[in-house]
Amino acid sequence: MTALKTKVYKVECWNPEPHIIAEAAYAIRSGKLVAFPTETVYGLGANGLDDGAVRKIFAAKGRPGDNPLILHFASPEDVEQVAYVNERAKLLMDSFWPGPLTLVLPAKSVVPNSVTAGLGTVAVRMPSHPVAMALIKAAGVPIAAPSANRSGRPSPTEAASVLADIGDDVDIILDGGATDVGLESTVIDVTGPSVVLLRAGGMPVERLEEVIEEVKLVPDEAKKKRSPGTRYRHYAPLIPLLLWENGVLRHSPFVMGKRVGYIGINEPPFPVEEKILFKTPENYAQGLFLAFRTFEKKGVEVIVAEWPNSKGIGLALRDRLSRAAGEEL
Ligand code: TXA
Ligand code: MG
Repeated sequence: MTALKTKVYKVECWNPEPHIIAEAAYAIRSGKLVAFPTETVYGLGANGLDDGAVRKIFAAKGRPGDNPLILHFASPEDVEQVAYVNERAKLLMDSFWPGPLTLVLPAKSVVPNSVTAGLGTVAVRMPSHPVAMALIKAAGVPIAAPSANRSGRPSPTEAASVLADIGDDVDIILDGGATDVGLESTVIDVTGPSVVLLRAGGMPVERLEEVIEEVKLVPDEAKKKRSPGTRYRHYAPLIPLLLWENGVLRHSPFVMGKRVGYIGINEPPFPVEEKILFKTPENYAQGLFLAFRTFEKKGVEVIVAEWPNSKGIGLALRDRLSRAAGEEL
């Protein structure tokens, strides 16, 4: 049940109503929590410079305190307030912002420890969604926002998923419809001599490599130290997920007699009770998390997901699928 205090407002995606944005921005400035759409997934936002407000995010999500948050900005210039911005970071911002790219930079002392998890670095991003942009501008502060799901669950790509997961613990939900990318932003570390991929996401690595030198993919063990978020089982549906790769089911083949829900681009390899087919890898990414939640509601007992190729958004899709399947990457 949703607490009566939670307000859910439908907002015009391309032209959000100013009075709704003003109320949500006031809530942010007052230390409250506002869930809002970005082009990737819905975020659970709070004033990123207010330690007390940020702590409410961790409580609402049930998120471990050692997993740092992304600060969201409405312009690249505003980042200087919280981080030391180097030339390479500037080039990346000029090339890809607003968009699904998060940069990890050395943090300034104004950033609360609850945001950085005491790492000395801060993750920053400028989302392209008009509702997110309007909210950040009106709030006049950087907005700390993880995905608006309960910790460990698939990220929400529509307002109903936010309501289902954390509806009781958020003050306002801005419902701007379904999100475009469907997977979270790409996170890269630009603090060191080489650029390191911490999380594959909505911005393909190939596009980054058009403007900077190679993006290093680090082995998972090292990544776990650098990006605490990758330490936990993530994006997981409540039902087991098996991966279908080139005619072989990875892990257990025991799907006989079970209600199977299939997701992928190609037709399922065997008869299934439920299926959701996507035309392109981009559509697959956009619909993945909602498909998990839909199958849960339909009483599916096993999900079989087609293993995509690693090009473009495929790298992020692979990452989310293997984590959801409980694989160690
Ligand atoms: O698309 C997105 O990035 C969404 C929307 C709402 O912007 N946000 C999102 O936030 O996915 P979250 O908290 O669910 O994931 C942030 C990831 C985590 O893996 C976290 O560990 C990593 O970024 N991260 C945040 N700050 C970091 C830092 N200072 N150093 C290394 N990794 C960091
Ligand atoms: Mg998340």
